[in-house]
Amino acid sequence: MNLSCSFLNIVIVLAFTTSSGKKFHRLTVHCVKKYFLLFVLNLLPIFHTNTFTNPFSDSTLQEGDIVFRRKRSAINCDSSCFWPKSSDGLVKVPVNVSTEFCKTWIAEAMQEFTTLTCVQFINRTTETNYISVVPGESCWSHFGKIGGMQQVGLMKTGCMSKGAIQHEMNHALGFLHEQSRSDRDNYVKIMWEYVIAGEQGNFGKVNSNNLGLPYDYSSVMHYGANDFSNTSGKATIVPIPDPSVPIGQREGLSNLDVAKINKLYNCCSNVLHKPNDTFSSVNYPSSYPDNSNCLWLIRIPQHQIFLQFDAFDLQPSPDCTSDYIRVYDGSSRNSSVLLDKLCGMGSLPSLVASRNVMLVEFVSDEATAATGFQASYSQGEDSASFTELGDISNFCLANIHVQN
Ligand SMILES: *[C@@H]1O[C@H](CO)[C@@H](O)[C@H](O)[C@H]1NC(C)=O
Ligand SMILES: *[C@@H]1O[C@H](CO)[C@@H](O)[C@H](O)[C@H]1NC(C)=O
Ligand SMILES: *[C@@H]1O[C@H](CO)[C@@H](O)[C@H](O)[C@H]1NC(C)=O
Ligand SMILES: *[C@@H]1O[C@H](CO)[C@@H](O)[C@H](O)[C@H]1NC(C)=O
Ligand SMILES: *[C@@H]1O[C@H](CO)[C@@H](O)[C@H](O)[C@H]1NC(C)=O
Ligand SMILES: [Zn+2]
Repeated sequence: MNLSCSFLNIVIVLAFTTSSGKKFHRLTVHCVKKYFLLFVLNLLPIFHTNTFTNPFSDSTLQEGDIVFRRKRSAINCDSSCFWPKSSDGLVKVPVNVSTEFCKTWIAEAMQEFTTLTCVQFINRTTETNYISVVPGESCWSHFGKIGGMQQVGLMKTGCMSKGAIQHEMNHALGFLHEQSRSDRDNYVKIMWEYVIAGEQGNFGKVNSNNLGLPYDYSSVMHYGANDFSNTSGKATIVPIPDPSVPIGQREGLSNLDVAKINKLYNCCSNVLHKPNDTFSSVNYPSSYPDNSNCLWLIRIPQHQIFLQFDAFDLQPSPDCTSDYIRVYDGSSRNSSVLLDKLCGMGSLPSLVASRNVMLVEFVSDEATAATGFQASYSQGEDSASFTELGDISNFCLANIHVQN
């Protein structure tokens, strides 16, 4: 299965570069019908430029040997090519930025992911899988994680806007172009008569996983109206029904770009850093989703953390094996457990962390949801005065464990 899909993958790439848009489309759908889109297209390098240079003139690619890279990647590629989530719920993507760039500018583009999603671009130290941002004659990226070092090419004069950098990083996270979505014909019209000969493959449509989220004209992943046009003043992409809707912004991630990253990576996780705050399960007080695994890392500057559940309603099950809450006295799942698996309904007394860090984990299985929980925390005022509450976790468990 992997092999046949890898083979089709190569076919797709050839179609991308040499065939008409129609042919590209047909081949893509054939593979996608059988296999999960992101896996299938994983090895596809995605090219685009702000100018009309041939992307394959990029020297890094000629030296890199595309076929070899694909073969190597096919071996390394697992069932999906997402970047993995670490135990704190964050998706850490190591990046090494070439010294030839103005690093602060690229860091600023990446910081927006860190602030708004659970994807965190971190400086690579010794990680095996990482992104190497290199100067290129075009702007390009692989699709998803390919395993090992993977390059993102940025043109020093051509794609240095925040959104253009984010666009390439987003490809590496597993996103395709917005106008290649399966439903794009409802939102844009491709003006084939103005597409530069040979570049039609850039306007292919794929059987995409749209994540249940709307088409986004304002996405950084959307092409601009005049991209790949061979006639000045003639658009290649026209929004419908209103052709004046702006497309192709590269200012920064749109709200929907952020929502899509969070959805693709199941980011229900958050870092909470205010001295006090309230948080709740997804959709609260409506039912929480199935198969979620969310983490709230509470990390305040100092003082112990008091946590209180204002509402608690999780699907009950023996030993809370289905849906549960667990609270850790520290910053990771390796930290000591303050409150072990908890489910059912009821009211809970406060929990207190021994330090200024606490991790709340919420897991739901594939069946039967309930309304979930709402919790709030505040900081202690005197770090010496809480030792008497040390046994509270046992009390909580005894009190509300499995009410059915
Ligand atoms: C990564 O390294 C650069 C220096 O190369 C530094 O300015 C930046 O703060 C570092 N970022 C993180 C997240 O550690
Ligand atoms: C980052 O890339 C440079 C080459 O651009 C290389 O010399 C350096 O070793 C790399 N550092 C890491 C941590 O990958
Ligand atoms: C633009 O491209 C189309 C199709 O690729 C071609 O038919 C047309 O002649 C081209 N126009 C110009 C001005 O090059
Ligand atoms: C929460 O913190 C804010 C300041 O961030 C403060 O004004 C407010 O009184 C605090 N509320 C509680 C309940 O501690
Ligand atoms: C947590 O423990 C596992 C083994 O139980 C270990 O592999 C992992 O590195 C630890 N993580 C942290 C953040 O300490
Ligand atoms: Zn792109």
